Amino acid sequence: NPNARIMFVGEAPGADEDAQGRPFVGRAGKLLGKIITACGLKRSDVFIGNILKCRPPGNRDPAAEEIISCLPYLQKQIEIINPEIIVALGAHAARTLLNTNKSIGQLRGQFHEYYAGLGRAPIKLMPTYHTAYLLRNYSHENRQRVWEDMQKVLTELGLPIPERDKK
Ligand code: URA
Repeated sequence: NPNARIMFVGEAPGADEDAQGRPFVGRAGKLLGKIITACGLKRSDVFIGNILKCRPPGNRDPAAEEIISCLPYLQKQIEIINPEIIVALGAHAARTLLNTNKSIGQLRGQFHEYYAGLGRAPIKLMPTYHTAYLLRNYSHENRQRVWEDMQKVLTELGLPIPERDKK
C-alpha cells in the first residue's frame, strides 16, 4: 500500500519469497499476517519490505557489503511510502535502520527515530522480534512482547487495540 501508515521491514527474502518475488509469503510471513490481523488491520493496509532484496545463499545472515548495496533501495522505498511508523522486524532491520549494534532485546519495546534524511522529519521506529525468531522461540512471553510492541504502535497511530484472540 503506497499510502500505508505502517511499514514493516524484515531481513531478506527466504526461499518462498525468492520464488514469488514478494516479501513475507512463507511461514514467517504467515505469522506476520496473523499479527497484522490481530492489530485489526489487513496486509493491504501496510507496506512490507526487506533490508536485502535477494536471498542470501543457505539463509545465512546478510553480509555487511550486501546491506550497504541494498540500503539505498530501501531508503528510497521509505522516502516514497513516508510511513508514520516503521516496525523493524529483528536485529538486522533494527540495527541497520538505527545504525547501532545494540541487541534486539535492548532495542525492542520503545520508539526510536529513523533518520529520514536532511530536511525530512525523523520517522518513529519500533523494533520488535522477527517472526522467524518467534516461530523458533514460540513462548507466551515472546508473543506477549511482540503484542505489547504492536499495541504501542496502534496507540501512537490513534488506532483501537482489538481484544486479543486467546490462542
Ligand atoms: N524473512 C524476512 O526477513 N523477510 C521475508 O520477506 C521473509 C522472511
